[in-house]
Amino acid sequence: DPVLAELAGGSALDIGFAIAPELLDEPEYRDIVDTHATLVVAENVMKWETTEAAPGEWDFTAADELAAYAQEHGKKLYGHTLVWHSQLPAWVSELDAEAMQAAMEEHVRTQVEHFKGQVVAWDVVNEAIDDNGRRRAESPFQATLGDGYIEDAFRVAHEADPDAQLCYNDYDLEAIGIKSDAVYEMVSDLVERDVPIDCVGFQGHLTAGTLRDDLQENIQRFVDLGLTVRFTEVDVRVHTPASDEDLAQQAKDYASVVTTCLAVEGCLGVTVWGVTDRYSWIPRWFEGYGAALLWDEDYQTKPAFDAVVTAI
Ligand code: XIL
Repeated sequence: DPVLAELAGGSALDIGFAIAPELLDEPEYRDIVDTHATLVVAENVMKWETTEAAPGEWDFTAADELAAYAQEHGKKLYGHTLVWHSQLPAWVSELDAEAMQAAMEEHVRTQVEHFKGQVVAWDVVNEAIDDNGRRRAESPFQATLGDGYIEDAFRVAHEADPDAQLCYNDYDLEAIGIKSDAVYEMVSDLVERDVPIDCVGFQGHLTAGTLRDDLQENIQRFVDLGLTVRFTEVDVRVHTPASDEDLAQQAKDYASVVTTCLAVEGCLGVTVWGVTDRYSWIPRWFEGYGAALLWDEDYQTKPAFDAVVTAI
C-alpha cells in the first residue's frame, strides 16, 4: 500500500490516528500506525477519568506508553482532552464552585506540565457547546462555574506549557449553522480578549453522504481569526452491513475532508478516530452503524483508504 505519512509529508499535512496503547501490541495494528501516522492521539487514556480518577491521584501509565511510542517513532503527540463533561469522574461534578475551580485548574496544570515538550497541541476544552448552540447545560463545569471556566482553562494550560498549541474541539462543526456559528462567536470573543487559544478541532464524526459544500468556507472563517484548524476525530459511519455504494460514498467523504483541509492554509491535518473497524467506537454508540474507518475488521484497506491516498 502507499504510505500516507510519506504522501502527507509532500503536502505537509499531519495524518493522525486515535490510539488505544494496548493495541500497539497487535502486529497488524502496530504496523499500520508505524507506517502511516505522523501524529497519534489517545482515544481514551488521557481523559480525566483515566488520569485523575480520584482527587490528586494521578495515573499516567497508559498515556506515558503512548507518549514513549510517539517519541521513539518520531510521531507528534496530540493531547485529548483536559476539560470535558464526559468521561469525567463523579467526584468532580459533586464539588462546590470554589473546589471545582481549584480541581479544574489543578487538573489542567498537572496534566499539561506532565507532557510538557511532548504534546504539540491540547484539546483544552471539548464539546462545551450543545446542539442548539448554547453553552452545554449538563456540563458540571458550565453548571457550577459558568462561562468563565473556558478561558480559565486556556490560561492555566498556557502557563503550564507556553509552547503547546491550545485548541477548542467539538463535533458537528462541519456545516455553517447554529452550532458552528455559536462556536465561531465563542472563539472570536476569546481571540478578541487575548485568551491564549490557537486552534479549533473539527471532530468530524460524519455520517456518509451528509457533508455539505460549505465546509471549506466554514473552516476558512476560523482560520481568518488567526487560528489553525484540524480535523481531529474523523470517521464516516455507514449502515451495516455496508454495501459497495456505502463504501464508495464513504470514500468520497474522506476525500472531501482531506481535499478541503489541503485547500485551506491553516488546516494542519486530519486525524482518523481509530485504525480498524474492528475496534471503532461507532457500533457501540450508534446502533446500526459501523465500518467507519480506513481499514476493515480484517485490516484490509477500504475504498476510503485509496480515496485518501488519491486526495493527498
Ligand atoms: C470516544 C471513544 O472513542 C470511546 O472509546 C469512548 O467509549 C467514548 O469516547 N468525542 C470525543 C472523543 O471527543 O473523546 C470520543 O471518544 C468520541 C466523541
